[in-house]
Amino acid sequence: MTTQHVAAAQAAPALSFPEGFLWGSATAAYQIEGAVAEDGRTPSIWDTFAHTPGRVANGDNGDVADDHYHRFREDIALMVRLGLTSYRFSIAWPRITPEVTAERLGPVNPAGLGFYSTLVDELLAAGITPSVTLYHWDLPQALEDAGGWTNRATAERFGEYAEVVAGALGDRVPVFITLNEPWCSAFLGYASGVHAPGRTDAVAALTAVHHLNLAHGLAVAALRRAAPAAKVAITLNLAWVTPETASAADADAARRIDGLQNRVFLDPILRGTYPSDVLADTASVTDWSFVAPADLAVISAPIDALGVNYYSPTIVRHWTRERPKESADGHGDSATSPWVAGEDAEFPTQNGPKTDMGWGIDPRGLRELLLRLHREHPGLQLMVTENGAAFPDTVENVDGDRCINDVARSEYLRTHLVAVHEAIAEGAPVVGYYVWSLLDNFEWAYGYGKRFGIIHVEYTTLERTLKDSALFYAEVIRSNAVPRVLP
Ligand code: FCB
Repeated sequence: MTTQHVAAAQAAPALSFPEGFLWGSATAAYQIEGAVAEDGRTPSIWDTFAHTPGRVANGDNGDVADDHYHRFREDIALMVRLGLTSYRFSIAWPRITPEVTAERLGPVNPAGLGFYSTLVDELLAAGITPSVTLYHWDLPQALEDAGGWTNRATAERFGEYAEVVAGALGDRVPVFITLNEPWCSAFLGYASGVHAPGRTDAVAALTAVHHLNLAHGLAVAALRRAAPAAKVAITLNLAWVTPETASAADADAARRIDGLQNRVFLDPILRGTYPSDVLADTASVTDWSFVAPADLAVISAPIDALGVNYYSPTIVRHWTRERPKESADGHGDSATSPWVAGEDAEFPTQNGPKTDMGWGIDPRGLRELLLRLHREHPGLQLMVTENGAAFPDTVENVDGDRCINDVARSEYLRTHLVAVHEAIAEGAPVVGYYVWSLLDNFEWAYGYGKRFGIIHVEYTTLERTLKDSALFYAEVIRSNAVPRVLP
């Protein structure tokens, strides 16, 4: 932009959001809580995975993480400073029923439930609406030992666990999200193996897809019974899949990736069927005989909202096998989908700005995804349940104060919020937005090296410091509007 353009943009009014729009931030239990052996918690697949040498960068693990389990009051005070109107967090299943096995849920652990009950009470007292995710990847290890998501019993136990949580918190929690990003659980956990439990088995991955969908459906039924007033949602990491060229071959590669990343979840949940092209694409891997006749009716029980997580675009090209496959897609690891069912799709390296994850930055994808959902599933409420960026932050000392001038993160948030605003202006019913993440935290296989927080965490002392992006976001919330250029 020229100086005149900047001046004009600064003078133009900021883009206002609908009244009551939820301004939130998101976290996940294993990434922030620590206290992994406290109050009766038993290991999850992420404890096991992180303690297996070579699985997580620098040998990092979530044993302490941000110590949020002990510092949640301090963290709520920071949320209040930001003016958040909602906070999305997840519940660690191994705290709630630590003795679960494939056969039975086992006794409920009052201390585990108590932690989340207090958290909910204190959020409400602070005027912050809790939005609770039941599963953000920390499967009890005992269930994995019996096959994990390849075992149908895991879905059945998940439905029972959902009923326990809903019964305890449903009187105070207005929104429950069943699963976070089942694509990652299935494909990163069981196909590429870069996430827990670290398996590399295409059949297992597709079996896991179905059992995750079934777990969602069983949880919806449980939530309706035990928390009839609450809204029920699921969060998907949908991809804005774009063929690199207009060729028929690229279009077909994009169709396959769209099938495995998006429609293999959207269609059963929202239409009650698996897409026939996905079944055909994967026929050499499995005949999907793990789908029982009644399952799709369970999976497609109506939901009240869809959570959308969006970070970066996904450009797809037909792979001609003449040279090694490129896998530089946006969200890091979706190269695992073709590993299962489309060996001739690749993710070509892109020019242009990237985050510290190497993920391309393109807010158009968020807008297009929201508009696609609005078009294809009219009337379905949408929430952006995660959006944000990792950048290598530096802490500076300014007149004795710790400062983190993370202008790139503020600009990432600003441009993506403009995209949300555009989607709303075109009719998409988006009711809220959650920045990933409130705090720097354990970024799965990347460990603590990648910082997504709008609040900095000094891991040696666990001191929290608001980054400039947090101050930017606080002003967005205060004004309920997004500026056309960074102030
Ligand atoms: C999403 C996860 C979240 C975090 C962000 C960066 O896939 O849901 O826990 O790791 O990516």
